[in-house]
Amino acid sequence: MASVLSVVLSALLVARPGAASDGNAFGWVQSVNTTTLGQYGDSPAVYPSPNISSTGAWEAALEKASAFLAQLTLEEKASMVSGEPGPCVGNIYPIERLGFSGLCLQDGPLAIRVADYASVFEAGVTIASTWDRTMMYERTLAMGAEFKAKGAHIALAPVCGPLGRSAYAGRNWEGFSPDPYLTGVGMEESIAGFQDAGVQATAKHFIGNEQEVMRNPVFLDNGTVTDIQFDSISSNIDDRTMHEIYLWPFANAVHANVAAVMCSYQRINGSYACQNSKAQNGLLKGELGFQGYIMSDWGATHAGVPAIEAGLDMDMPGGLGLYGMVRNGNAFFGGNITTAVNNGTLDEARLDDMILRIMAPYYHLGQDQDFPSVDPSSAQLNTFSPVSTWLQDWNLTGESSRDVRGDHRDLIREHAAAATVLLKNENSTLPLKSPKVIAVFGNDASTDTQGFLNQNDFEYGTLSAGGGSGTGQLTYLITPLEAIQARAAEDNALVQYWLNNTLIANSEMPDLWIPNTPDVCLVFLKTWAEEAADRSSLHVDWNGDDVVASVAKYCANTVVVTHSSGINVLPWADHPNVTAILAAHYPGEQTGNALVDVLYGAVNPSGHLPYTVALNASDYNAPPTTDIQTSGKEDWQSWFDEKLEIDYRHFDANDMAVRYEFGFGLSYTTFDMADMRVEMITVLDQANVPARPERLPVQPGGNPAVWAVLCNVTAGVRNTGDVAGAAVAQLYLGFPESAPPGTPPRQLRGFDKVLLEPGETGTASFSLMRRDLSYWDVVSQEWVIPTGEFTVNVGFSSRDIVLVGNITVIEG
Ligand SMILES: *[C@@H]1O[C@H](CO)[C@@H](O)[C@H](O)[C@H]1NC(C)=O
Ligand SMILES: *[C@@H]1O[C@H](CO)[C@@H](O)[C@H](O)[C@H]1NC(C)=O
Ligand SMILES: *[C@@H]1O[C@H](CO)[C@@H](O)[C@H](O)[C@H]1NC(C)=O
Ligand SMILES: *[C@@H]1O[C@H](CO)[C@@H](O)[C@H](O)[C@H]1NC(C)=O
Ligand SMILES: *[C@@H]1O[C@H](CO)[C@@H](O)[C@H](O)[C@H]1NC(C)=O
Ligand SMILES: *[C@@H]1O[C@H](CO)[C@@H](O)[C@H](O)[C@H]1NC(C)=O
Ligand SMILES: *[C@@H]1O[C@H](CO)[C@@H](O)[C@H](O)[C@H]1NC(C)=O
Ligand SMILES: *[C@@H]1O[C@H](CO)[C@@H](O)[C@H](O)[C@H]1NC(C)=O
Ligand SMILES: *[C@@H]1O[C@H](CO)[C@@H](O)[C@H](O)[C@H]1NC(C)=O
Ligand SMILES: *[C@@H]1O[C@H](CO)[C@@H](O)[C@H](O)[C@H]1NC(C)=O
Ligand SMILES: *[C@@H]1O[C@H](CO)[C@@H](O)[C@H](O)[C@H]1NC(C)=O
Ligand SMILES: *[C@@H]1O[C@H](CO)[C@@H](O)[C@H](O)[C@H]1NC(C)=O
Repeated sequence: MASVLSVVLSALLVARPGAASDGNAFGWVQSVNTTTLGQYGDSPAVYPSPNISSTGAWEAALEKASAFLAQLTLEEKASMVSGEPGPCVGNIYPIERLGFSGLCLQDGPLAIRVADYASVFEAGVTIASTWDRTMMYERTLAMGAEFKAKGAHIALAPVCGPLGRSAYAGRNWEGFSPDPYLTGVGMEESIAGFQDAGVQATAKHFIGNEQEVMRNPVFLDNGTVTDIQFDSISSNIDDRTMHEIYLWPFANAVHANVAAVMCSYQRINGSYACQNSKAQNGLLKGELGFQGYIMSDWGATHAGVPAIEAGLDMDMPGGLGLYGMVRNGNAFFGGNITTAVNNGTLDEARLDDMILRIMAPYYHLGQDQDFPSVDPSSAQLNTFSPVSTWLQDWNLTGESSRDVRGDHRDLIREHAAAATVLLKNENSTLPLKSPKVIAVFGNDASTDTQGFLNQNDFEYGTLSAGGGSGTGQLTYLITPLEAIQARAAEDNALVQYWLNNTLIANSEMPDLWIPNTPDVCLVFLKTWAEEAADRSSLHVDWNGDDVVASVAKYCANTVVVTHSSGINVLPWADHPNVTAILAAHYPGEQTGNALVDVLYGAVNPSGHLPYTVALNASDYNAPPTTDIQTSGKEDWQSWFDEKLEIDYRHFDANDMAVRYEFGFGLSYTTFDMADMRVEMITVLDQANVPARPERLPVQPGGNPAVWAVLCNVTAGVRNTGDVAGAAVAQLYLGFPESAPPGTPPRQLRGFDKVLLEPGETGTASFSLMRRDLSYWDVVSQEWVIPTGEFTVNVGFSSRDIVLVGNITVIEG
C-alpha cells in the first residue's frame, strides 16, 4: 500500500539561468538562489484522507446522505464521483432508481455562463472595489437565484486563487484582491449569497494557481505515444506564506461552509494540486476542517487511486479528452474505481466518504426538494459536451430558455456604480455640470462589433467582462456611448465621438473637432485579460496611452475611464489636462448606465482600489515565470521567494512611492476622522488572552478559537462636504517587533463602509479576531499573538492613515 500512497513527486531541483536584469516581466526567467534551494519544494505526505465528521454545520444533512449512500451499488458509487458528458459544464449522472436527478455544475464567477436570458454581473475585482459587504452578498444571492432557476446545483465560483501574487496573471479579475483579508471577506459574503439562494458554491482554485502560463503540463504526443514533456509550473510556497497569504481566504471559505473546493491545475511544491496530500488532506480537510468535497479543475486530475488517497473527491469533467490531458475516455475515475475497490487497491470507506461529502451539502441546501430541471437551452448551448457525447439520457423536461434575469439589472447598475473608483478629480471637474459639448474617444466607448456572446479581445467594443470560463453571455449591453448620449440629450448637448484608436493616436485634434471646443473629453480605455493566458503588459491595450496623449494635448478637460482586468500603470495620470480618472474594471451588462450615474453625480463614487497602482511596471515584484532555458520534465518552477510581500506589502516593506496606493479612492464629498475617538482594549494580558489559541475541536474554518473576536475598534467618521457619500474606513495593523522577520509593516485587518449625509458623523467598527492579531508559527503550526505593541492605523487608504492607536500585549 505504501507504494500506492507515495504519489508525491519531489521537485527536481535543477539550476536555472539567472534573471534578466531589466526587471521586465515578460521573457523574465526566474533565477534559483542556491542558498534557499531545497528549503522548500517538497510536499510532505499526509495520509489518510480525513472523513467528513458530524461536527460541521450539516449534521442533519449528513444523516440523509448516509441513508442515500446505504442504497448505492458499487457502480453507482463510482458514478457519483465521476464526471460524464451531459447538459452542463460538469455532470454527475442521475440515479433514477433512487429519485436522484443528478448534479449540474456550471461556470462561473460573474454569471451562469452557459445559458441564455441570464444576467452578466460585475467581475470579482469590480465588486471587491466596492469594499461593501452587503453588495458582495447581494450579488451572489441574485446570481445564485439564476443558477438555480436554470437547474444548476453547483456554481463554479467564487475565486480566491489566483489571489493576485502577480499583477500580470490572466485571471486576477475573477477573484477579488491580492490582499487576503479583503478577499477573505469577499469569499465569505459570496458563498453566503450563493448558498442562501440554494446553490452550492465552489471555492477555487486550490491553491497557488497564481499564473496561467504553464498551468498545465505539455504533452509529447506523436499519435502513438502520449507522454509528458514538461510538468506544469510548480508553485513553491513556504508554510508561513501559505497560511498568511494564500490559504487565508480559503479558510474564510471553509468557515462560511462552502460546499465544494476546486483543486487547481498547477503543482504545489512539485506535486500536482489535485493529488497533493499535504494541501488537500493536511491543510484543507485536516487543519481547516473542510466538510465538503474537492473536485478537480477541468482536466486537472493526473491519477486515479493516488489522487483519491490524497483527498480528491470528484473528477471533472471526466473522460472528455479535454485539452488532450485525459486520454482513453474515463481514464482515472469511473470504471477504474469499481475495479480498484474490487481488487482491494481502494478502500471502499474512502469512496463512501467522497459520496457523503458530495451529498451532505446537497441535502443541507434542500436540493433534493423541487429543484428546477436543467434548462434544455443550456444543454444546447453546451458545446463542451454536446448531446451526441452523452452516455445517458438526462431529464430535460422543463421549460426551455427560461428568463431568469428578474430585476437584477437594477442591482448590477447599482453595484457597478458603487464599484467605480475615482482616482483623480482636479478642481472637481466631476460630476459633470450639464456640459453642452461632449467629445468621446476610444474603442472602449461603444458597441462590440464582433458579437458579445462570449467576450473576446476585439478591437472595437467596450469591455464589460474578461474571457474564458469566467465570462458571461450578454443578453444586451448598455454601452458608455449609448448611455452618455441618452443623458446628454437631457441637456440638449452635442455629442461627437471617435472610436478608432489608431486614428486618434495619430491625429492632431484640431483636425477632428467639429465644430466647437468640447467642454469635456471622455477617453475610454480597455485592458483585456482571460483564462489560460497571462497579460504581457500592464499598460492599457490598443495604444491607449497614445490616445490619452493625443486628446490631452488639446483638450484641457480630459476625463479618462478605464475598463480593465485590474492593475494598469497610468503614465499620463499627472498630465495637467487629464482632470479626472475613473477605474471601472469589468462592470457587467449595465456598464454605460453605471458610469453615467457616476459621471453626472447621480451616484457619488465610493469605490476604492483593491490593489496598488505603481509608478512603473518594473516596480511590481513576483512576475510570472514565462520561460525556462532547460528541458528537464520538472523544470517549470515558480519560487514564491517574495513570501508575504505581494502588492502593498511589497511597496510598504521597501518604502516605495506609488501612483495610487492600495485602498485609495476619491469621492465627490470629503471625510474626516479628526477629533474622533478610537475605542479599543489597549492591553491584552496573556494571562487572560494566551498567545496560543486553546486547542478546541476543529470546526469548518479550523480551530474556532482562531476566529474569536478579541478586540473591537471604532472610529468616528464625518462627512465634511456638501453631498451625501460613503466613506470606506480601513484598519491596518502593524505588528510588534517580536513578530518574526518578514512581517509586513502594515496589513489590512478591517474595513467598514459608512454612508453619511453632509455634516453627519457615523461610526466605523472593526472586530479583530485572534487570527488578525497572529502570525503563523511554522514550528508549532499555530497562530501566535506576539508580545509587544501593535500599531492600529485607521484611515481612508493604506497610506492615508488618520488615527493611530496601539494594543499592547503583555507577556503572561
Ligand atoms: C539567496 O538567499 C539568501 C537567503 O535568503 C540571501 O541571503 C541571498 O542574498 C540570496 N542570494 C541572491 C543571489 O539573491
Ligand atoms: C511546501 O514546502 C514547505 C517547505 O518545505 C513546507 O513547509 C510546506 O508545508 C510545503 N507545502 C506543501 C503544500 O507541500
Ligand atoms: C473513515 O471512516 C471509516 C469507517 O467508515 C474508517 O474505516 C476509517 O478509518 C476512517 N478514516 C479516517 C481517516 O478516520
Ligand atoms: C512515437 O514515439 C515513439 C517513442 O519515441 C516511437 O517509437 C514512434 O516511432 C513514434 N511514432 C511516430 C509516428 O513518430
Ligand atoms: C482505467 O484507467 C486506464 C489507465 O488510466 C484507462 O486506460 C482505462 O480506460 C480506464 N478504464 C475505465 C473503465 O475508465
Ligand atoms: C486494481 O485496479 C486499479 C484500477 O484499474 C489498477 O490501477 C491496479 O493496477 C489494480 N491492482 C491490482 C493489484 O490488480
Ligand atoms: C423531470 O423533471 C420534471 C420537471 O422538473 C419533473 O417533474 C419530473 O419528475 C422529472 N422526471 C424524472 C424522471 O426525474
Ligand atoms: C484648478 O484650479 C486652480 C486654482 O483655481 C488653477 O490654478 C488650475 O489651473 C486649475 N486646474 C485645472 C486643470 O483646471
Ligand atoms: C482606423 O484608422 C486608421 C488610421 O487612419 C486606418 O488605417 C484604419 O483603417 C481605421 N480602421 C477602421 C476600422 O476604420
Ligand atoms: C492643455 O490643453 C490646452 C488647450 O486647452 C493646451 O493649450 C495645452 O498645451 C495643453 N497642455 C498640455 C500640457 O498639453
Ligand atoms: C465586540 O463587539 C461585538 C459586537 O458588538 C460584541 O458581541 C463583542 O462582545 C465585542 N467583543 C469584545 C472583545 O469587546
Ligand atoms: C499607546 O497608546 C497609549 C494609550 O493611548 C499611549 O499613552 C501611548 O503613548 C501609545 N504608545 C505609542 C508608542 O504610541
